Amino acid sequence: MARTVAVSGSASGIGASLAGLLRDQGDRVVGVDLKDAEVCADLGTPPGRAQAVTEVLALSGGTLDAVVACAGVSDFTDLTVKVNFFGATALLDGLRPALSRAGRPRAAAVGSISGTHPVDGAVVRACLDGDEPAALEAAARAVAAGAGHTLYPSSKSALAQWLRRSCVTPGWAGAGIPLNAIAPGVVRTPMSAPLFEDERMLKAMNDAVPMPLNGHAGALVIAEALRWLISPANSHMTGQIIYMDGGAEPTLRGPETF
Ligand code: NAI
Repeated sequence: MARTVAVSGSASGIGASLAGLLRDQGDRVVGVDLKDAEVCADLGTPPGRAQAVTEVLALSGGTLDAVVACAGVSDFTDLTVKVNFFGATALLDGLRPALSRAGRPRAAAVGSISGTHPVDGAVVRACLDGDEPAALEAAARAVAAGAGHTLYPSSKSALAQWLRRSCVTPGWAGAGIPLNAIAPGVVRTPMSAPLFEDERMLKAMNDAVPMPLNGHAGALVIAEALRWLISPANSHMTGQIIYMDGGAEPTLRGPETF
């Protein structure tokens, strides 16, 4: 049966790939992105997030079968915190009531292997406290100290922790909504394209994210996994951060962490 699915970041990369897969199988996709989407909204700002939720609810008639928070940015600024953490969690939380009205609702986010890299503890704590001004202040301190590179890992670590904390609560598990994430390694998309144009950056990336199994992935590989996570078949997996990273996570964290 055709389902209605909200996908953020639907205009590019992994989100576009997922939207294509879902449309091909007959689902209705309500894409959310800065442009070229059913809902054009900026998930980096509180008003943009509220607009996204309102417009998705209006277009879906108030009931959603699945939500995928895929939109993200990767740079050394506080934009990563705004979009990757507060944008993703606001969308998932804001659309949760619409999910709870569906028969077999599902939700997913896109994390990153970077969430296992060193983070800025103050940024992560403020994110988990839901305190965006404090998170942005901490992010500004990190940038001023030359540690802007910790902000993307911080945003993805906070997202993973928020997800694991939320998934078992009455609002999610209690409402029958599995909530999981795919955490990719390096995926060839417009986001990662600049890294492939600079040999020094590529080497640094390959050192930080070693992928012994089949190397860098295509967007479709991640989209296929997201499709399964939000399918009716996934009735019992929740709170899982699934590393789809060519073996980077076991390489970096070793066999004792699982
Ligand atoms: P992409 O750049 O191709 O697509 C990201 C999409 O998010 C774009 O369409 C962009 O317009 C949208 N977006 C960005 N800021 C937004 C905002 N403020 N409001 C609304 N939409 C916004 O990137 P890609 O690679 O498809 O990334 C998708 C997700 O995968 C992101 O969360 C990213 O962090 C994650 N990821 C990507 C990896 C990679 O190597 N490409 C590796 C690990 C995770």
